[in-house]
Amino acid sequence: MATPSTGPSFHLGAMPGQIADTVLFPGDPLRAEWIATTYLSDVSCYSKVRGMLGFTGTYNGRRISVQGSGMGQPSLAIYANELLSHYGVRTLVRVGSCGALTTAVGLRDLVLAMTASTDSAMNRVRFESFDYAPAADFFLLRKAYDLAVARSLPVHVGPIAAIDSFYSEVPAQLLRLAEYGVLAVEMETAVLYTLAAKFGARALTILTVGDHVVTGEATTGEERERGMAAMAELALATVTD
Ligand code: ADE
Repeated sequence: MATPSTGPSFHLGAMPGQIADTVLFPGDPLRAEWIATTYLSDVSCYSKVRGMLGFTGTYNGRRISVQGSGMGQPSLAIYANELLSHYGVRTLVRVGSCGALTTAVGLRDLVLAMTASTDSAMNRVRFESFDYAPAADFFLLRKAYDLAVARSLPVHVGPIAAIDSFYSEVPAQLLRLAEYGVLAVEMETAVLYTLAAKFGARALTILTVGDHVVTGEATTGEERERGMAAMAELALATVTD
């Protein structure tokens, strides 16, 4: 439900105009704060509602916002709906972490999500028996890939899965997905791509591999921080260069 766009939306404390048309969208609100205070100038925090921090500033002369999405598709969908419908956002780039499903993808590598399969009921409710295929914006994807290659980053492009349970009860299902070419799992992208399509906007998910579902390896906190920096820099270059 959209509130009148003369005031704040339901879950964001911003007035219309306080959020840029281009938004970086990490799951963790403290990561949103870190990206905004590390990379943006003239930063202001426009929302602290429920601790889901959002900031606007400038990067290379471009106005950019960074908004926490929370974990999982229902949480992300609340913020994505309001950003797209209430604040007129046109570009959303999720920056997050994922679990690798294949040994071809290593810890700390980057994954650009071309499509996102899901076990979430959100699109089943939306499309009934039809299996919609949520997909990234091609031009954002191509630009992020070209920039990643130019920076010699270890990057993979392909399908991912957005699952509802981090602690999966059916790990065999993840391995089945891997047999069908799915590179990694996270918990948000299917609904992000679906909502961007609904509102005629662009979306891309950039992920760093934080853990390996097959080998059981996991990165340290410090490694995750470094991965976040490379990913945030790639996302900012993708939306501004
Ligand atoms: N995000 C990061 N690692 C994940 C995993 N193993 N499963 C789901 N989401 C994740």
